[in-house]
Order: sequence, then structure tokens, then C-alpha cells
Amino acid sequence: MRIGLSYDLKETITPPQASCDDICEEYDSLETVELIATSLEAEGHAVTMLGGGREFLSKILQEKVDFVFNIAEGRGTYRGREAQVPSILEMLNMPYSGSDPQCLAVCLDKPLTKKLVALEGVSTPTWRVINDRRELHEINRCRSLFPAIIKPAYEGSSKGIRLTSLVEDAKQANEVIECLLDKYRQPVMMERIILGDEVTVGIIGNSPPKVLGVMRILPRQRNDCFLYTLEVKRNYLELVDYECPAGLEEKVLERIQTASLKAFEALGCRDFARVDFRISAGGVPYFLEINPLPGLGTHSDLVIMADKLGWTHRQLIGAVLNAALERYPQCVCV
Ligand SMILES: Nc1ncnc2c1ncn2[C@@H]1O[C@H](COP(=O)(O)OP(=O)(O)O)[C@@H](O)[C@H]1O
Ligand SMILES: [Mg+2]
Repeated sequence: MRIGLSYDLKETITPPQASCDDICEEYDSLETVELIATSLEAEGHAVTMLGGGREFLSKILQEKVDFVFNIAEGRGTYRGREAQVPSILEMLNMPYSGSDPQCLAVCLDKPLTKKLVALEGVSTPTWRVINDRRELHEINRCRSLFPAIIKPAYEGSSKGIRLTSLVEDAKQANEVIECLLDKYRQPVMMERIILGDEVTVGIIGNSPPKVLGVMRILPRQRNDCFLYTLEVKRNYLELVDYECPAGLEEKVLERIQTASLKAFEALGCRDFARVDFRISAGGVPYFLEINPLPGLGTHSDLVIMADKLGWTHRQLIGAVLNAALERYPQCVCV
């Protein structure tokens, strides 16, 4: 099959002047794109690089492809940015991998996603959104949230989540929120901290989706309030150990798997996703967020998890592709 690969390369994005140093964090490296292309080729497909943004717009109209494997994160700081490429593909009636625009747009909005999963009975830490500076005084009414974490409402890849994001009181919260409102130009969340184990869950497939694995992320240095911040993600080889399967009690693992699948299905995810939780001292998984477009590079959590479970990168990409192809019987593999 002729597969187009849509992606946004870090190198091709020109950040606006005076932007934050993590503005390009979600975008992919050439190494990741080449790795995915190699895995698709190893599955017997011819791969055409489509890129992202304007390059994607012209190439998708020019190149002859039967299907698009999409990892494009989208452009700008819009909360619907991950929906940009899939929306165009739907307009062209072009088969593609991964979740649809509606799911991708919802899941980048963390507060909205939390409301939807909470409706399904999945626990999520209590939170409050501060939309702009005029709402800063609301912090005083949120004392029950402390200690809290402050994070941008529409980001991923730990953008805006630093060691300084953990706040103990209204004064600290005020400072961090003001700073994030200015830098990220979007609403900010203040969320109660869950100081337990950090796990991430991989899901693959549809009807029914299946849990690939539950991976625990352990700080190398004992740390009572470990946060998987940007600093940690950038230096993960030195700072954390990954444990998969996670060494948690069977009943806790079952709760995590049930909550993950509920979230995946409630949000209408397709083909694959990664769900992040913190586990309370009582063994309750607290949903933090879901990534319907998780990273697929060597350094990404889902790839590390698959590797720990004995899967090759090619097998992982093949599983995502096959899940997507089941939707499109017209895409016959030749
Ligand atoms: N409520 C919380 N309690 C404890 N840790 C949190 C909480 N929210 C975020 N974190 C920490 O910050 C990390 C990144 O937050 P997350 O919501 O997953 O954002 P991102 O989309 O950037 O990955 C988490 O993996 C976790 O370590
Ligand atoms: Mg996360």
C-alpha cells in the first residue's frame, strides 16, 4: 500500500519571538519520523513523506497515497490543533490512522476531558480553571486544592510543567499562574496533587481496545513529591526508571486497566492512546490526562513500554496500522 506519513518536524517550526523554550516540545524529530517510515516499510508499504502545515496541504493533493499514517501535532497554540490534519483528511475522504478530529480536539483540553471521564465514574483530581488575570482572586477560594499543581489547560509533553509547578499556598499559586497565563496565552489549571505512584497505560485496537501494558515511572532518587516534569522528561535516562509490567497489587492494576479503557471509550479514541494516572495511597487511580496521539519515537513512553514487553517498534506500528485498516476495507494491502 502507498502510505503517506504526516508529521510536524521540530526543525521546520519557526517559534514566534519571545516564546517559551518548550514551544516545540510536542513536535517530532527527523529520527522519529524516519524510524516510523522504516517500520512501515518493513511491513511492506511504500512511504511518502507528507510533512505538516502548508507542505502537507500541497503534498496531500499532489502525491498518490492510499492511506495516511498521522502523527502531526498541528500548528499554533489552538486547543484543536491536533485535529487539523485529520480534518483535512476527512474532507478529502482519505483513510488515516488514529483518532478523529473531535476526539483529538477534546483531549487536548484537559479540563473538558476530565469532566467527560468523571461522568464515566473515573476518579480525577479536583481542579479549578483560571481563565485570565481577572480570575486570579478566585485562587483564594480554592484552599482545599493545596498542595496543588499548576499547568496550562491545553498542552501536552509536560509543556509548562516544571519543578516550580507544585505550589503549597495561594501566594505561590498566584505567582505561577500569572506566569503561565502570560507565557502560554491560554487558561491555566490548578489541580490537587496526588502524591502516589505515577503510571502510564498503553492502549491499542478497537472493538474492543486492549491494554498493551501499565508502566510505572519511578524517580531514581527517592522523592516524596516526584513530578514527571519537563526537566525530568528531557533527562529521563538519568532521572527515572521505567517498570513494565508495573509492580503494583493485582487489584490496583485491574482498577487502572478498567479506568483506562473507560476513558478511551468515553472519549471516542481509536487505534491507540496513552493514559496517565497517579495512584493514591489507598490504591485509587486518579486520571490526569489521555494522549490520543502519543509519541512514537524511541524516547516516547509508549515505545519504551512496548520494548519492555518485548515488542519491536515495527510490531507496535504494525498493530496501530492494522487497527486503523480494519475501518477501511477498501484499503487492501498489496
Ligand atoms: N494532579 C496531579 N498530581 C500529581 N502529579 C501530577 C498531577 N498533574 C500532573 N502531574 C505531574 O505532571 C506530569 C505531567 O502532567 P500531565 O497532566 O500528564 O501533562 P502532560 O500532558 O504535559 O503530560 C504528570 O505525569 C505528573 O507527574
Ligand atoms: Mg502526561
